[in-house]
Amino acid sequence: MKKIVANFKMNKTPSEVKQYLMTLVPRFDKAENIDLCLCLPYTSLSEAKYLLKGYPVKLGAQNLSECEAGGNTGEISGAMLKDVGVDSVIIGHSERRSRFKENSKIINKKIKIALKNRLNVILCVGESLAEKNTLKTLDTLREQIEEALKGLYENELESITIAYEPIWAIGTGKNATPREIEYAVKVIRKVVEDDFSTKASKEICVLYGGSVTNKNVASIIKAKGVDGALIGGASLDANMFLNILSLI
Ligand code: PGA
Repeated sequence: MKKIVANFKMNKTPSEVKQYLMTLVPRFDKAENIDLCLCLPYTSLSEAKYLLKGYPVKLGAQNLSECEAGGNTGEISGAMLKDVGVDSVIIGHSERRSRFKENSKIINKKIKIALKNRLNVILCVGESLAEKNTLKTLDTLREQIEEALKGLYENELESITIAYEPIWAIGTGKNATPREIEYAVKVIRKVVEDDFSTKASKEICVLYGGSVTNKNVASIIKAKGVDGALIGGASLDANMFLNILSLI
C-alpha cells in the first residue's frame, strides 16, 4: 500500500474544492493500493468532511497552532482540526519554516499538540540547494528529524510520517532522482534507528515530495524505502491527479 498526500497549499476557494472533490472522489478506484489523504485549506475542511463521507479518502490539514487554545488570534488548534474530521496534518513544511519562521522548537511543539489531539503527522524535512551542494544533506536531515521528534515515545512514531522534501525540488519542476531519494530515505531511517530502534526505522512511513508529476511518479514510488509521495502543484487539477494515481 502506497501513501499519497496532496498538498493544496493556499489554492482553491471552498467552491473550487467542492467542484474538485466531486470530480475526483467518485472516480478514485485505487483504494486497495493507495492510502489517499487530501490536505486542504482550512476553509474547506468542514464541507469536505461531508463530501468525503463513505469514501476511502482521508482529510488532511496543512498546519496547526503550537498552542492549545485561547488568545492566539487567527490560529487553528489541534482540537478544532480533530473535530472537523481531520486525520493528518502537515508540520514543518519548508514554506512554513522559511516564510513563517517556524524553527525546530515550534515544529516539535506542533507535533506534540497534534499527537495529543490524536492527529497523524506528516513531518516535512529537506535540505536547501546550498546544503546539497556542500554535501550537508545528511547533517540537515539528522538535525531536523532529531529536533522535531525530541521527547517522543517510540510508540508515537506510528502516527508520524516523514516526507523528504528537498527545498530545491519544491515547485521548481526539478525532482530529486530516485538515487538521491534513496540516499535521503536511508539517512532518515538511520536517524530513526539511532534515536529509537531498528524496528521503528523499518516501520516508519517515508514519503518523497518535490515536483512529483505523472512523468516521474512511477519511478519515484519504486525507489527503495519510499512508501509514497507528497504532491503539491500536480494535485491541483482533479483529472491530472487521477492520472497520477492511476500510475501507482
Ligand atoms: P510540488 O510541492 O509538488 O508542487 O513541488 C510539494 C510540496 O510542497 O509539498
